[in-house]
Amino acid sequence: MKAVGLHQYLPIDHEESLVDLNIDLPEPGPRDLLVAVKAIAVNPVDTKVRAPKADAITEATPKILGWDAAGEVISVGTEVTGFKPGDQVFYAGDITRPGCNSEFQLIDERIVGKLPRTQDYAAAAALPLTSLTAWEALFDRLGISPAGSDAGKSILIIGGAGGVGSIAIQLARTLAKLKVIATASRTKSSIWVKQMGASHVVNHRNPVDEELKDIGIPEVDYILCLNNTDQHFPAMANAIKPQGKICTIVENSAPLPVELLKAKSATFVWEFMFTRAMFQTEDMSEQGAILNRIAKLIDNEELVTTVGETIEPIDATNLRLAHRQLETGKTIGKIVLAGWE
Ligand SMILES: NC(=O)c1ccc[n+]([C@@H]2O[C@H](COP(=O)([O-])OP(=O)(O)OC[C@H]3O[C@@H](n4cnc5c(N)ncnc54)[C@H](OP(=O)(O)O)[C@@H]3O)[C@@H](O)[C@H]2O)c1
Repeated sequence: MKAVGLHQYLPIDHEESLVDLNIDLPEPGPRDLLVAVKAIAVNPVDTKVRAPKADAITEATPKILGWDAAGEVISVGTEVTGFKPGDQVFYAGDITRPGCNSEFQLIDERIVGKLPRTQDYAAAAALPLTSLTAWEALFDRLGISPAGSDAGKSILIIGGAGGVGSIAIQLARTLAKLKVIATASRTKSSIWVKQMGASHVVNHRNPVDEELKDIGIPEVDYILCLNNTDQHFPAMANAIKPQGKICTIVENSAPLPVELLKAKSATFVWEFMFTRAMFQTEDMSEQGAILNRIAKLIDNEELVTTVGETIEPIDATNLRLAHRQLETGKTIGKIVLAGWE
């Protein structure tokens, strides 16, 4: 089968950073679906895994990246109960297994959802990783009610125009009925976050606590940090209400001054979308359930897909283009690749 992968971890401008490959078709384990991948999206996790490493490692078996896909089930493992060949599905996947940048992929049925009825494969592929991250961050980690019991409370979403922010703003506004303040630094990204449902926009190039004071909202109940935790931590500590909650999804590069949160008894929590699959947690199938809820919200037009750009076909040249764009840090919404030549 066709695939795109790497043997060496190289800068994206290097021709060998992502290469076209022909690899063996994998055999499903008991709970696996074998899926014919029709469309994929790219995420910063792809560029982080692909980035050059301190030791010059060479992979004998090529590493296949990609953790956002939509496709059709071809065959199922012996213990699969929820899917059959012919089902159309979408999913993010498991960072410990080969990714979706291949014509066919194995995926555990517990972390798979049925494709939204109203979307094609490309539109659906934009959704899984960012929707799961945003859902888990807002409702599982920050403990916000998806049924609207926290209506009227305020949330600051830092990095609002990116892939995760675009869905998080919609979920916070539509399901939780929160007042959403999003950050964006450019005219284009500011317009986008308003389209997604933010009622206020502040600029993350300035300290966000100062920006909040300037718009007359000096403190917020919740903060969701989707970019540069090191940069934003002190301002988040200033802007969170006493007993408020902060969630970040981005790794820090220096120790975080968590003591700044003590006087306010503020909560600080991580979200990592791969936790459930990586540790095979008892509630791993919750990810399949979240994706099915997302599909329903899309079909009911309560959420909109966040595709910014679609590129065809899926091959190494186009994937290098998509990685290069993501590495600018200026992507709005999602970049999707569709079809194999
Ligand atoms: N823990 C997890 O499970 C998980 C899951 C998904 C993603 N992530 C991580 O979360 C981050 C965001 O992912 P994404 O897919 O949303 O990324 P993305 O789409 O690449 O984000 C791009 C956005 O980031 C904004 N931005 C750039 N610099 C910023 C800064 N210093 N502060 C705040 N915003 C800034 C940009 O806005 P402007 O153009 O307006 O500046 C742009 O719209 C990545 O680091 C990713 O690896 C973690």
